[in-house]
Amino acid sequence: MFKFGQDIGIDLGTATVLVYVKGKGVVLKEPSVVAIDTNTGKVLKVGVEAQNMIGRTPGNIVAIRPLKDGVISDYDTTEKMIRYFLRKVCKNSLCKPRVMVCVPSQVTEVEERAVIDAATQAGARKTCIIEEPIAAAIGAGLDIAKPYGNMIVDIGGGTADVAVISLGEIVVSNSIKVAGDKFDDAVTKYIRKKYNMMIGDRTAEELKIEIGCVYPRPEPLTMDIKGRCLVTGLPKVVTVSSEEMLEALEECATQIVDAVHMVLEKTPPELVGDISTSGILLTGGGSLIYGLDKLISRETGLDVFVAEDAVFCVAKGTGMSLEYMEQFNHSRYRKK
Ligand SMILES: Nc1ncnc2c1ncn2[C@@H]1O[C@H](COP(=O)(O)OP(=O)(O)O)[C@@H](O)[C@H]1O
Ligand SMILES: [Mg+2]
Repeated sequence: MFKFGQDIGIDLGTATVLVYVKGKGVVLKEPSVVAIDTNTGKVLKVGVEAQNMIGRTPGNIVAIRPLKDGVISDYDTTEKMIRYFLRKVCKNSLCKPRVMVCVPSQVTEVEERAVIDAATQAGARKTCIIEEPIAAAIGAGLDIAKPYGNMIVDIGGGTADVAVISLGEIVVSNSIKVAGDKFDDAVTKYIRKKYNMMIGDRTAEELKIEIGCVYPRPEPLTMDIKGRCLVTGLPKVVTVSSEEMLEALEECATQIVDAVHMVLEKTPPELVGDISTSGILLTGGGSLIYGLDKLISRETGLDVFVAEDAVFCVAKGTGMSLEYMEQFNHSRYRKK
């Protein structure tokens, strides 16, 4: 049972929702997916159970990711999703929690408002929003309050966000809609073109995670995948290599490198100096693709590190920032 006045941090990602509870750490990690009956509009499943339905639903059921491209495509569904996760975490709670939510960076103020309302309706006593790069930096253990430049690159499912932070604020940033999902799409396209074969989204993601790379692997890997032959319409199995994945993913990776370049070009010289001393920090699930750190390092000449627990940084930082919740009311962390 949760204590009186629970504090909760929610990382509302495009691919994954994580919930952090003060004193407990990350207590929930589920895909941001909702399954809906299109006849009645009713939400059938949320999270893992909805994820398992993707690509396997009968006509009247759709499994959707309401935040897929970093914007809230569907308020109602997003609200129901937030409510479901909050209830799941707080089911034994006596008192309404204080909630901090981290939303994708391209979400508008109106959409933020909707998130705050949803959390409040779901039972939050007080809700605040934190900017993602700030949360990622706090979660990765950086001391962001100093007058010192840190560069954070967070790569999620829908968006890649590059930001330079100093004195607790974002100085320069850039967000592009090229991240984990686009890598998956690139894999699907590549396989279709080269092998005349259609594979499902989950197979594409598996290929990316198991043998994908954006920088040559020291030991090439291979993987057998199943799909449907576009010529015969029948099931087909092919063996794919990591070298082929490198070819498939190159274009997307280049776009991320370009986004980093663009931010570096706009960063004031003193801060660039700081970044050249301490390097670039990568967070988010998408940053785990093999070789992204090496590629960015080769292309910028800077040191690049993948944060420890890269997938949890934003959730941790969001939860940790609750300590300063009082300041968040009118604070500088709030999106302007
Ligand atoms: N080991 C891995 N290698 C490559 N990509 C990964 C790995 N683990 C997770 N991902 C990818 O990370 C993305 C999700 O990252 P996440 O940080 O959870 O996104 P978001 O914050 O947008 O919800 C997905 O595209 C997923 O395929
Ligand atoms: Mg994220």
